[in-house]
Amino acid sequence: MRDNARMQETPTSATRTAWHVLGAGAMGCLWACSLASAGNAVRLLLREPPACGSDASITLIPHPADGLREETLLVPVWLEAARDNAPIARLLACTKAPDLLPALEHIAPRIADGAAVVLLQNGMGFHAAVASLLPRARIFCALSTEGAYREGSLHVRHAGSGETLLGAFPGSAEIGATELVGELGRGFLPVRAVEDIIPALWAKLAVNCAINPLTALHGCSNGELLDRPTLRGEFDALCAEIAAVLAGLGHPGLAATVAADATRVARATAANRSSMRQDLEAGRRSEIGFITGFLCQQAQAAGLPCPLNEALLTAVRQREQAKQA
Ligand code: PAF
Repeated sequence: MRDNARMQETPTSATRTAWHVLGAGAMGCLWACSLASAGNAVRLLLREPPACGSDASITLIPHPADGLREETLLVPVWLEAARDNAPIARLLACTKAPDLLPALEHIAPRIADGAAVVLLQNGMGFHAAVASLLPRARIFCALSTEGAYREGSLHVRHAGSGETLLGAFPGSAEIGATELVGELGRGFLPVRAVEDIIPALWAKLAVNCAINPLTALHGCSNGELLDRPTLRGEFDALCAEIAAVLAGLGHPGLAATVAADATRVARATAANRSSMRQDLEAGRRSEIGFITGFLCQQAQAAGLPCPLNEALLTAVRQREQAKQA
């Protein structure tokens, strides 16, 4: 067996801004590799001081679309304890939505004035809380269709090639996302700036509301929602309720396409285990509160009924509690 190839650090790394990455799961590791591949100094933030010294490497199994040629690469990164005190000027937060605020509270004193903080989570309802926690930072929202699996600690497989959209959280970052795309998108993962990220966040939320809780509760693949008649019935009814809520909330375009969008995504990811199913099966807290929970909150505030979504929210929460008990 041949040795894993080591990614070379480029001579420009000293002149580029250091990127801190929060969350050492599949997405955090994948992004750390992409940023490092462009010569950025990458610091992976860990809750506890690293046991193995600070100089480490992530094992990356790239996707053919990454253009990296090697089958497996060792990508050098620096491990840094969250309670270190070096200032943070660029932060990419890749934690799960429920872990985001507690993790940011921990490092808030380190975030420099004017720092760019990019939030890459499923769901909605946490961006404004981050903006008030970090009033002097510029907050950006990112949405990604990249697929990645963690194969072990600091070991990631880039399984599906996608794209990442980046936009400024309204009112938080006046300069927009274009300048930051130049930095974030220099690696092997493509990034595109969007003028208004909010419609894209709603579109992703609506698809996640349709697919994630049903697949998590039934323990089925995304494609089974379309192919098993009883599940298909539940899926169609849920899409209709999500569409009615979106229309009532003033998103008529999204309301008209949500069923087709969710069907297309479920078909394109037919063999996948949704992230919420993976969370429930692993006994982890899921993102239900920031997906279905957010939709239900918005519906309730507007006086719109959403009994199917409320029932799914309760059922997923009960399943989480049963696993933790
Ligand atoms: O959360 C997920 O799993 C994904 O966003 C999606 C699109 C539902 C595919 O599995």
